[in-house]
Amino acid sequence: MTQSRRVLVIGSGGREHAIAWKLVRDGAEVLVAPGNAGTAAIAENVPLTGDDIPALVALAQSRAIDLTVVGPEAPLVAGIVDVFTAAGLRIFGPTAKAAQLEGSKLFCKQILHRGDVPTAMFEEFRSIARAREYLLAREDVPVVVKADGLAAGKGVFVCKDRSAAVAALDTLSSDPQFATATTGILIEERLDGIEVSVMAITDGRTIITLPPLQDHKAAYDGDEGPNTGGMGAYCPTPFVDSELLTEIESRILVPTVHALRRAKVPFQGVLYAGLMLTAQGPKVLEFNARFGDPECQSLLVRLESSLLELFDAATDRRLDSVEPPVWCAGASATVVMAAEGYPGPIEKGRPIRGLLAAAGVAGVQVFHAATRSVAGTVVSDGGRVLAVTALGDSLAKAKLQAYAGVREIRWQGAWCRKDISDKALAFEWAAAADAFDPDGVPDSIATDAGGDTMLGVGQ
Ligand code: AMP
Ligand code: GLY
Repeated sequence: MTQSRRVLVIGSGGREHAIAWKLVRDGAEVLVAPGNAGTAAIAENVPLTGDDIPALVALAQSRAIDLTVVGPEAPLVAGIVDVFTAAGLRIFGPTAKAAQLEGSKLFCKQILHRGDVPTAMFEEFRSIARAREYLLAREDVPVVVKADGLAAGKGVFVCKDRSAAVAALDTLSSDPQFATATTGILIEERLDGIEVSVMAITDGRTIITLPPLQDHKAAYDGDEGPNTGGMGAYCPTPFVDSELLTEIESRILVPTVHALRRAKVPFQGVLYAGLMLTAQGPKVLEFNARFGDPECQSLLVRLESSLLELFDAATDRRLDSVEPPVWCAGASATVVMAAEGYPGPIEKGRPIRGLLAAAGVAGVQVFHAATRSVAGTVVSDGGRVLAVTALGDSLAKAKLQAYAGVREIRWQGAWCRKDISDKALAFEWAAAADAFDPDGVPDSIATDAGGDTMLGVGQ
């Protein structure tokens, strides 16, 4: 009998649960650091976090880990890949320099410029005062104000006019959480259109483009409310057909990978393009240096071939030798169940009921996003608590099954968006009539999400 491969996954969210789940299906023995109650059920949790890089190196050495996979961006930006590689350990993900594609919006823009990749026009400023002067001196148009560095998704302000943009600068200058992210400020043209996510696995030369998805970043139904890490996703999105995906690959992903290589920062790992489909074609809003969460969950339930093989081939710089991945037909949908108050302050430690019943719903996988076990009971441990994911032979069925799973689960204050994938369903249904209106999802399609067991939806 061949020995199973031992893989370490770093992170504790729904994305990492999905990665661990798929690697276990691929036959790997999986450790997760630190993991959550969901990963504990399928793998071995190790109580180390991504910022403790020396301890993770020691773990990889002492447990003879032959591949480490990094979920979140912070350890990548902090240089975990560089440290593991220097210690002779195999690790999947970009180096600290390459992860600047996500860690620094200015670096990202420079690479986009080098690669002649379409993106929003922008100006950069080294001080908030200069940015304010610029805003006051120019025409009053919608803009997006961005802090350069990582700010947990909070450093971006989409502003309808000048006064909103000036207010955004005031927030950036006064709130200490942005102190390290505001060494640079970008003021960007606001793009209009439909937002989609396209991810690719790359070894720095070859890329494998993955099926397109759509995230739901706003907290509440109808894209209302504050920005979040993502309240749901589905895959594939009909807004990107195969022709557009080929265009995105050739005009955006490939030139970005080449521009990085030419800049002597080859990128190995997951390249995530957040795109706006504008009237002038797809344009880059941002790049991430890792799988999206919850996009990863919707993606991996559809992957029939080996994820481990893709990670191995990218890590060993031989992606050109692997067979293209195989995706199951149909579609998937992921509904994030969140704690009361998210994305603001939340209470942790609420006992969760119904997980087994949800897992019994046809096609459903419940990925844990922030949970832990207390004396045998699974309790909530963060803002985005669960990512209930379902496969269906159509998107409508995947959505129905995901919400059937959601309906089985209860905890005090639990809530979710009820309209995950509705834009796509409206688009599919209106396609024949050529009458799609992205802001006008008909009530008949914004279906019975069945969220009446949940409190506070759309508060
Ligand atoms: P980012 O972190 O750069 O992806 O920005 C977060 C979110 O802000 C994106 O997902 C978009 O919804 C929005 N956004 C960012 N840049 C722009 C832009 N130039 N035009 C319109 N919306 C934007
Ligand atoms: N869901 C968006 C992200 O992972 O950045």
